Amino acid sequence: MDEPLLDVSGLSIDLPTRSAPVRIVDEVSFAIPAATTVGLIGESGSGKTMTANALIGLLPDGAVVQGSLRWRNEELLKATSSRRRELRGDEIAMIFQDPLAALNPTHTIGRQVGEILRRSGQSRAAVRTRVVELLDRAGIPEPAAKLASYPHEFSGGMRQRAVIAMAFRCCWPMSPRPRST
Ligand SMILES: Nc1ncnc2c1ncn2[C@@H]1O[C@H](COP(=O)(O)OP(=O)(O)O)[C@@H](O)[C@H]1O
Ligand SMILES: [Mg+2]
Repeated sequence: MDEPLLDVSGLSIDLPTRSAPVRIVDEVSFAIPAATTVGLIGESGSGKTMTANALIGLLPDGAVVQGSLRWRNEELLKATSSRRRELRGDEIAMIFQDPLAALNPTHTIGRQVGEILRRSGQSRAAVRTRVVELLDRAGIPEPAAKLASYPHEFSGGMRQRAVIAMAFRCCWPMSPRPRST
């Protein structure tokens, strides 16, 4: 059988506190085969966000991570920070829970969704086309007309869609938008 896209094995995370370190994730194992969706369910505070933060490599300072996180057979826990940065955004993305905290209130939606794309050296026109495509893919109606909007002009649901569009930046080429039947 093919290797899973992601293989998490015996993941434990300890965070330092003023007294002793606390274990916030304890021996978690799961695998995600390619082209599948896996839900991680647990009560509030059980460590779902910290597990995801370990995957994208953004844990609080001083966190001690043990176990194995294999992405396409590459051990993420042995990767350099520049390699982790390369994977973050190019291959692995996180849709943050609170879109207001994830969006900059002073920049337009178009600017924020296009930010990483502009840094990749694409032309302004190519970036604009791509941003419109991403917003459309995330289900934002009339995406071209929304490029100049600011986050406060969006409803909560639309802001959530904007951060979903940002996470989609790593999917290239885009799969076609599913049509409702
Ligand atoms: N910076 C931190 N320092 C210490 N403990 C933290 C920190 N951030 C989160 N925690 C604790 O880690 C545990 C897991 O949190 P989290 O992953 O956010 O849970 P979930 O996403 O499942 O609700 C919680 O008990 C939380 O209080
Ligand atoms: Mg959480």
